Amino acid sequence: MAPAASSDDRDPDRLIDPRTRTDDESELSIRPRRLDEMIGQLRIKENLKIAIQAARSRGETLDHVLLYGPPGLGKTTLSNIIANEMDAPIRITSGPALEKPRDLAAILSGLEPQSVFFIDEIHRLNRTVEEILYSAMEDFRMDIVIGQGPAARTVALPVPRFTLVGATTRAGMVSSPMRDRFGIQHGLQLYEVTELDTIVRRSATILDVQIDASGSLEIARRSRGTPRVANRLLRRVRDWAQVRGTGSVDRDAAETALSMLEVDELGLDAFDRRFLTAIILKFDGGPVGLETLAAMLGEERDTIEDMAEPYLMQLGFLNRTSRGRAVTRLACAHVGLPFPAALQQEPVQFRLMEE
Ligand SMILES: Nc1ncnc2c1ncn2[C@@H]1O[C@H](COP(=O)(O)OP(=O)(O)OP(=O)(O)O)[C@@H](O)[C@H]1O
Ligand SMILES: [Mg+2]
Repeated sequence: MAPAASSDDRDPDRLIDPRTRTDDESELSIRPRRLDEMIGQLRIKENLKIAIQAARSRGETLDHVLLYGPPGLGKTTLSNIIANEMDAPIRITSGPALEKPRDLAAILSGLEPQSVFFIDEIHRLNRTVEEILYSAMEDFRMDIVIGQGPAARTVALPVPRFTLVGATTRAGMVSSPMRDRFGIQHGLQLYEVTELDTIVRRSATILDVQIDASGSLEIARRSRGTPRVANRLLRRVRDWAQVRGTGSVDRDAAETALSMLEVDELGLDAFDRRFLTAIILKFDGGPVGLETLAAMLGEERDTIEDMAEPYLMQLGFLNRTSRGRAVTRLACAHVGLPFPAALQQEPVQFRLMEE
């Protein structure tokens, strides 16, 4: 599996951090293997199903696929599913692991024909590596420089046909020549509560956890639209139920266990509340720039963008405008503070920009 990037500088207590992948390994049994086992993301599944079937019936490799979206939504899962559905071997690496052109060349020349080649964090590829990838993706050859100085020459080496699957949480950081080489591109969206509910029940069955409908729904509501978080919360609630409860996961167990872990009824944790409260109290509700907020809260900009904001925006708690971040009435109500007067008087233009 791809290594979790810099997971060591994260607060291990943040139960709702969708980036921490440590439990994915112990969770391999619950990772869907086939498109039909994967819950939600209907449009993506349908499109992939058609593309895969068409490629298979022509006996070709699938077009290159770019998957983007917030952490923990199923990009790695989908790339494995693509390999399974194509009956193809998969080779897995990540952008930062491909330091030198020769790292990439070694993998490409060793690929079994028809393989799926998965590059996680593809936005972190360096330029020279990226350029080798271009010709490999397009013409299935790579231009390698042999020798040094005046004796150096370029040779074109053939590469077996393969499907590149690239994953990124930062679609905007993938260069446009790179992006243009993916025939298939899909953005994963946060999941609905009903979908997460189904995911929790499916995982509980596989893990042999006793759970009732109220229990799975309560966990789903607190999972921030993210399957990885849903599975993690399920395990924590199971622990509580085993030690303090009846052994079975019901609403009471979920509420008590997750409140104890400071995950509130909408899945917000202490940081989310601190973030919203700071915008409301220190910046009159916003708009305020992300850099300013990050510095004030002593948190990485990336953490705020990857972890807090997508879900707060889905909840309708936060607006991102060209002038910065601003809270909404709903957010104020949730943290129990009055809606700032300054925001009520924001010009109409500002409101339209939020749409
Ligand atoms: N649609 C789904 N149905 C059921 N389980 C899912 C689904 N999507 C993801 N999961 C579960 O969530 C976990 C996280 O998914 P995955 O590792 O594929 O996310 P990711 O998008 O690759 O995250 P990252 O950006 O951190 O690499 C997996 O272990 C998997 O079991
Ligand atoms: Mg992944």
